Parts: sequence; C-alpha cells; structure tokens
Amino acid sequence: MHSEFWNTRYAEPGYAYGTAPNAFLVSQARHLRSGMRVLAVADGEGRNGVWLAEQGLAVLSVDASDVGLRKAQALAAERNVALGTEIANLFDWVWPVAQFDVVVAIFAHFPPAHRARLHASMLRALRPCGLLILEAFTPQQLKYQSGGPRALEMLYSAETLRTDFADAEILELEETLTDLDEGPYHRGQAAVVRLLARRAV
Ligand SMILES: C[S@@+](CC[C@H](N)C(=O)[O-])C[C@H]1O[C@@H](n2cnc3c(N)ncnc32)[C@H](O)[C@@H]1O
Repeated sequence: MHSEFWNTRYAEPGYAYGTAPNAFLVSQARHLRSGMRVLAVADGEGRNGVWLAEQGLAVLSVDASDVGLRKAQALAAERNVALGTEIANLFDWVWPVAQFDVVVAIFAHFPPAHRARLHASMLRALRPCGLLILEAFTPQQLKYQSGGPRALEMLYSAETLRTDFADAEILELEETLTDLDEGPYHRGQAAVVRLLARRAV
C-alpha cells in the first residue's frame, strides 16, 4: 500500500478528483435517507463522503492518506457538514461488522492478494439489507488515458465482482463506457463497472 503515492497526489493544489460527487453514486440517491450510517471506503479527498453528509447521512470516511482526509475535512467545513474520518490501511483495518446502512467504494482498487477479503469485509460492515454502491475501472480501461491503475490485476470485471459478492443480492451490475469529468485525474472516456448490491437478511 503506497500512502506516499496518494499523499503526493493530494498535496497538489486543488482536488485530484474534483469536489463534485461521483455520478454513479448520485444516480443511487433514491436509496439514501437522512440519518443512514454510511462507510465511505478509500474516500480520498472526500468528494463523495461530503456529498453524502450533505444529504443528511452520518458518514465515516476511511483512507490511508492523511493528506487526503485533511482535505476531506476542509471540504466538509466549507460545506458546513460533519464528516467522520479515520486514517487506516484497509488491509489491516479492524472492519466494523453490521454497523452501516450503506457502504460506498468509488474507484477503490486493491491488489488480488487483498481484494476478495476486503470486498467480503465491506459486505460484513453492512447491516442486514444494507446497500453497497461500488464503481471501479475494468480491464478495458487500459485502452484509455482517463485515469485508474495501469496494472491489469488491479482492475475489476463484472465477473470478478459477481464472484466476490456472491453472498449478496446483486441489484445492478454492468460494465459500461462513461465520460468522466472528475478533476484532473479522471477525465475523458472510461471503461467502468458499476455495482449495487444488498446484504442478505
Ligand atoms: C482513485 S482514489 C479514489 C478516491 C475517492 N474514492 C474518490 O473517488 O474520489 C483511491 C483511494 O484509495 C485509497 N487507498 C488505496 N489503497 C488503500 C488501502 N489499502 N487502505 C486505505 N486506503 C487506500 C487511496 O489513498 C486513495 O485515496
């Protein structure tokens, strides 16, 4: 885990992925209710966590980058919302169990040695019937220069996610091409996979 990589990126002026929330997350707004508890996994500079807090949710943003989470707190203060933050390497974080109504993982890419276990931890962090909202780049993204890891093993297909979340009810799962306009590091045509899954009762 290279928190120096992310700290260096987030030390640049501005917000690497912008301050507006991810479009797929916003498209799921109908599932979100004020007062819900949400875990924003690998939330970086907090654009998604802050937007969730603005919708009235109680948000815990977890990321390995202290620089990123400091900017997340600054963004939350600017928008007058409370944001819980925790600096942690998710590889060895003590994951909460059955605590959250929603888990959000937007462009949270992990190497194969950790991926399936972390995805299982995300599911376990949900209360029964809780929702997971996830977007990630697919292997097709290697054809594009619009962001994301450049290593095949860090990219997720729909099949990968179907396997990792086999214990959940898959409500939406699709690979698609999209146009990203998320700050300087996510811009242009991109190949993504989008998942909405529900933890079983
Ligand atoms: C592409 S950024 C996405 C940030 C945010 N989700 C967004 O969409 O704006 C990936 C984030 O994953 C975090 N990350 C990667 N591996 C991690 C790990 N093992 N533990 C905690 N955070 C991690 C990085 O620090 C970085 O903030």
